[in-house]
Amino acid sequence: MSLAASQASAATISGTVVGPDGAPMRAVFVQARHPGMKMTVSVLTDNQGKYFVESLPAGDYDVSIRATGYKADPKPGMKLSADQNASQDFRLQTALIDWTDISIYQGLQLLPDARGKQMMAANCLGCHGFQSKMAAFRHDQDGWRVRVDFMRARCTPRSVNAMVSTTRRPRM
Ligand code: HEC
Repeated sequence: MSLAASQASAATISGTVVGPDGAPMRAVFVQARHPGMKMTVSVLTDNQGKYFVESLPAGDYDVSIRATGYKADPKPGMKLSADQNASQDFRLQTALIDWTDISIYQGLQLLPDARGKQMMAANCLGCHGFQSKMAAFRHDQDGWRVRVDFMRARCTPRSVNAMVSTTRRPRM
């Protein structure tokens, strides 16, 4: 967006985000997306749960929120004319937290202290987290076996082979 365009267009979307109990929620991401211009603006709510997305060019916006453990219906197709101040509030509902939503640190806190944990931390997470490559897929035991074999063939640091051979025959 050029400077001239940003000065000429000053539409604003603002509102308040509250939690399931109706209390203001801080640090929730609010995203205004202009699909036509492939433009997304993200802001965070403040201590009063308020957010302001400013200096937007006129157009149709999809407004949605992102907060780990919460969800709210997105508001598609909000029409903004130049200089319009539109308001959009959100009331969040609790949502399940998925393994793909959390950090490696949080994951290692949550995983039980069983045998595979340290081995996974030491051998697998250096290349990729569990979020995108593991938790994002559902497989049965055979399915996982195929993939671990695949990783063993593709990435052959000795440590990975050592780990996989000790976990080949899980005690059921
Ligand atoms: C040397 C780096 C490296 C190490 C170590 C590593 N991975 Fe990977 N892993 C990758 C890469 C790169 C991909 C993506 C491969 C692709 O998509 O072609 C991948 C993909 C995967 C996938 C997805 C495969 C699929 O497409 O279904 C799984 C599951 C996986 N890794 C598990 C593991 C496990 C478990 C370990 C520890 C034993 C491990 N990885 C260690 C680099 C690594």
